[in-house]
Amino acid sequence: MRRPVTILGIETSCDETGAAVVRAGREMLSSVVASSLEEHRPYGGIIPEIASRRQMETIVPVVRQALSEAGIGLPGIDAVAVTARPGLIGSLLVGLSFARALARESGLPLVEVDHIEAHAYAGFLRRPGEKEGLGDGPPLPAVGLVVSGGHTSLFLLPRLGAFELVGRTRDDAAGEAFDKVARILDLGYPGGPAIDRLAAEVEDRATPVFPCAELTGTLDFSFSGIKTSVLYHVRDSGKGDAGPIAAAFQKSVVGVLCRKAFEACARYGARSLVLGGGVACNSALRRCLEEEGGRRGVTVTIPPREWCLDNAAMVAGLAVHRLPFREARS
Ligand code: KG4
Ligand code: ZN
Repeated sequence: MRRPVTILGIETSCDETGAAVVRAGREMLSSVVASSLEEHRPYGGIIPEIASRRQMETIVPVVRQALSEAGIGLPGIDAVAVTARPGLIGSLLVGLSFARALARESGLPLVEVDHIEAHAYAGFLRRPGEKEGLGDGPPLPAVGLVVSGGHTSLFLLPRLGAFELVGRTRDDAAGEAFDKVARILDLGYPGGPAIDRLAAEVEDRATPVFPCAELTGTLDFSFSGIKTSVLYHVRDSGKGDAGPIAAAFQKSVVGVLCRKAFEACARYGARSLVLGGGVACNSALRRCLEEEGGRRGVTVTIPPREWCLDNAAMVAGLAVHRLPFREARS
């Protein structure tokens, strides 16, 4: 019998260069991520030109390291997977050109994966100690909530590897709102971790109230209004102690994300909720979803923090479900 399908994944949609080897869609044999974040920090945001230049330099060593850590080398790879969209065009092109060339030279199938769907898949990767086998993992149908710097999306996952978009942000992404509010409060870039830390210090002493648009009756989100409310509050009353402002902002955003996620679960009869994307690192959001999931009897799967941020394991994992049946099973 042939060994399970082993895929090399490549991820270069934003500032990271990621490569990973995943077997049977769930078992991570290696995952390497090189980030150029430190070089962007002084500018208060990602500079695309810096990101793609670093990716040009790091893609070969990162892929080599992923293959060597997996202990199999290129001959042990059955397919190459790469993030094709969405993302910074220069960055995407580095990964895509590399993956296309590698696949052609090695005679391997190439699978082009959607970055947001890959984030929603991260919860299906097997955690250390979890039992083996494709098809285990969060029970289906599931709802996937992806909250990242560029996207806020709710998916219905009727079966493994299938995604139906059922809700999305109509303006700013959740992570973008965290980053913009952190900038208003002079907390540096990226803003999410800074707001998370600051809010934790003040816990429930969140005095100002910043309502978040509900868009009742839909599963869509809107985060540009709350950012403007914070801006006006700071303009009129000053920053003062930024803690309560950060906590109030976070409470509103987490509240709406949590409510809509479970509204989607109820609407589609989902048995589980899987979380992904950089904002999934947020401690208040993780706590809120876990508590609410417990109350409602919905299994909540929140990947470890390094799998929430951009990585190639989620890309390589999802790709097995995109292979033609013969190649995946033969
Ligand atoms: O998924 P990701 O690594 O990149 C994109 O695909 O966008 O997400 C990055 C975003 C940034 O906006 C960052 O501020 C946010 O994730 N983030 C957080 C936290 N850690 C990262 N937001 C809230 N709380 C956090 N702890
Ligand atoms: Zn991402």
